[in-house]
Amino acid sequence: EKHFSKLQDFQGKKVMITMGPTQEALDPVRFISNHSSGKMGLALAKSFLARGAEVYVISGPISLKFDQSKFHWTDVHSAKEMYEAAHKIHGLMDICVFAAAVADYAPAEVAKEKIKKNDSEQFLKLKKNVDIALELGKIKQPGQLHVGFALETEEGEKNANAKLDKKNFDLIVLNSMRESGAGFKLDTNKVHIYHSSGRSVSSEIATKSNIAELILDQIKSSSVWV
Ligand code: CTP
Ligand code: CA
Repeated sequence: EKHFSKLQDFQGKKVMITMGPTQEALDPVRFISNHSSGKMGLALAKSFLARGAEVYVISGPISLKFDQSKFHWTDVHSAKEMYEAAHKIHGLMDICVFAAAVADYAPAEVAKEKIKKNDSEQFLKLKKNVDIALELGKIKQPGQLHVGFALETEEGEKNANAKLDKKNFDLIVLNSMRESGAGFKLDTNKVHIYHSSGRSVSSEIATKSNIAELILDQIKSSSVWV
């Protein structure tokens, strides 16, 4: 009985997860990106699925092997594509988790042909990308719950809480790279979770799967959960 209810505690919930890096094209053969592996996002997607949710994944390019067939899966490259895919389904969602490492900037111009090298130095002009979580935070409806992530190298608690407020998150998960074992490509992590109510919890160093379970438990304990 208890086991069953734990497995099904997200039944009837629609959950969107953005995950992975974005790739911002420079020319037909080059892009700007980052080291995100998508492991944390995928661990979350699997946990939501196992606990009964209907899971909509919007993922930048990742190279993890798993069964995509149980998810509503959309592959994207750029921040703009990720935003458009997320905006399209946002209104249907009960829970949105912004786990993607979205590139903050993209090349101001995308060259139609491969950029050729010459004898001079090159300067890259960048434009700001759309902030997906910020924009969707502005149209969040009562009963919808938004979860953000923050990766900080300094002043983690202060920076994470500033993002929680600015982006209208109900909770934010701070990845502290300082605290042993935590990082992009690793299978373990240590996080601090801050709620908009001011409450917070910290994890031990744990697998991303264990961290995902903790995040789901925190979502359930949120005052926004119905
Ligand atoms: N995020 C997003 N779209 C962006 C940038 C960030 O949806 N263009 C989301 C991330 O998925 C994460 C949260 O916003 O949930 C915080 O991302 P982060 O990069 O830590 O914050 P920024 O606001 O981009 O600030 P900075 O990188 O300068 O610390
Ligand atoms: Ca950023």
